[in-house]
Amino acid sequence: MSNDVVNKTRRRVLTGATTVVGAIGAVGAAVPFVGSWNPSAKAKAAGAPVKVNISKIEPGAMITVEWRGKPVYILRRTEEALAGLQKTTELVSDPNSEEPQQPVYAQNETRSIKPEVSILLGLCTHLGCAPMFRPDVGAQDLGGDSWQGGFFCPCHGSKFDLAGRVYKGVPAPINLEVPPHAYDGDDWVTIGVDQEA
Ligand code: FES
Repeated sequence: MSNDVVNKTRRRVLTGATTVVGAIGAVGAAVPFVGSWNPSAKAKAAGAPVKVNISKIEPGAMITVEWRGKPVYILRRTEEALAGLQKTTELVSDPNSEEPQQPVYAQNETRSIKPEVSILLGLCTHLGCAPMFRPDVGAQDLGGDSWQGGFFCPCHGSKFDLAGRVYKGVPAPINLEVPPHAYDGDDWVTIGVDQEA
């Protein structure tokens, strides 16, 4: 290849490279605008709030959503489940949620803003396994008559009631954490921002 041909080839390569850089620059400029209304998967993983429609959760049912890479349990409690919480009060170690691992608006008997909706981080406070949802009242493997439904951690056997309050005498030291959350009407809740007083 002569020098002349080599130089022309290099010029074409350089021109092509410049064009590509220009295109990337344009895409880069557009991203912040798009990101302002549609958080990217990366932004979500970094902790963007997650908005959830809870209108389809039937009484007694639970869904799991992901926030900051962690499972968040959203449970719609029945009247019976709320009544059951009164029966578990003496079986749990911190019935009034005096340990400071939850927002102040969850420091009440049901550990929630709306009595019927429980929102909990689905991570056992012992070593972080995901507790199983066990709403079956009276389950023989979980204490029979004293079991009012709740969560059971399969890793080392910790038990929590339907407000995420930890039973006495299990490895987990404190109640399941209530993540920050805020309601927007009856149907929507945003995980990751605090409800205003
Ligand atoms: S991680 Fe749940 S009991 Fe150990």
